[in-house]
Amino acid sequence: MPTLTHDAPPIAFRDPKRAAEHEPTNWSRAFIDKKGARATARSFRPQDLKALQEMYFQFEPKQIAQRIPPRTEEQISRWLRCLTHDGENIVALIGRRLVGHAVLCDLQDGRAELAIFVHQDFRNREIGTQLIQLAKRAAMAAAYRQIWISVESSNLQAIHVFQKNSFQFLGSFDTESEMVLDLSPTGRQIDK
Ligand SMILES: CC(C)(COP(=O)(O)OP(=O)(O)OC[C@H]1O[C@@H](n2cnc3c(N)ncnc32)[C@H](O)[C@@H]1OP(=O)(O)O)[C@@H](O)C(=O)NCCC(=O)NCCS
Repeated sequence: MPTLTHDAPPIAFRDPKRAAEHEPTNWSRAFIDKKGARATARSFRPQDLKALQEMYFQFEPKQIAQRIPPRTEEQISRWLRCLTHDGENIVALIGRRLVGHAVLCDLQDGRAELAIFVHQDFRNREIGTQLIQLAKRAAMAAAYRQIWISVESSNLQAIHVFQKNSFQFLGSFDTESEMVLDLSPTGRQIDK
């Protein structure tokens, strides 16, 4: 099921119909993080690519979720070329430093798969939550009915953040848990 591994490139928006219908988005929200820093979550721009690569080159631990982010700089660069070409990408910045990234990839059944990463020096400052909220807006604008994630059941921090943002457990298999965020009208009550 997961499409986001670096050896299985994402399929987002490769469906020509959805690609044609998909308006380029320009989401942005400014916020003050939990340490009082001015931060922004916004749509990815092509000129962000170098900073995004740099975040992942420094990101630890590698392969924390479904074997992503990949280990080597070459793999990271290739993986990001796929994601930024095919996915709906959102970045978080503190000042001019890119510190977080979320990406939605089309599962071709009305759902989008989410992956989210915040640099280890910037966690627990609400950046992940802001990225999820913006990803939710982008997914709603693209008419998805659900955001789907697969998360390792031992990843308690990520599970806490997803639950805090209204994701619900769908089921578990092996060491993975599936969670979904309902985007139907009754599920749209979490905008902060
Ligand atoms: C998951 C992740 C994106 C969250 O980003 P973040 O910016 O730290 O998230 P937030 O600051 O919005 O929220 C962090 C919450 O986790 C809680 N938390 C921290 N450590 C925790 C732990 N070990 N167990 C449970 N909750 C924990 C914090 O208290 C905070 O909750 P609160 O706001 O209710 O106090 C980030 O930790 C990350 O990049 N992890 C590695 C990659 C990953 O696992 N991605 C998810 C799978 S794709």
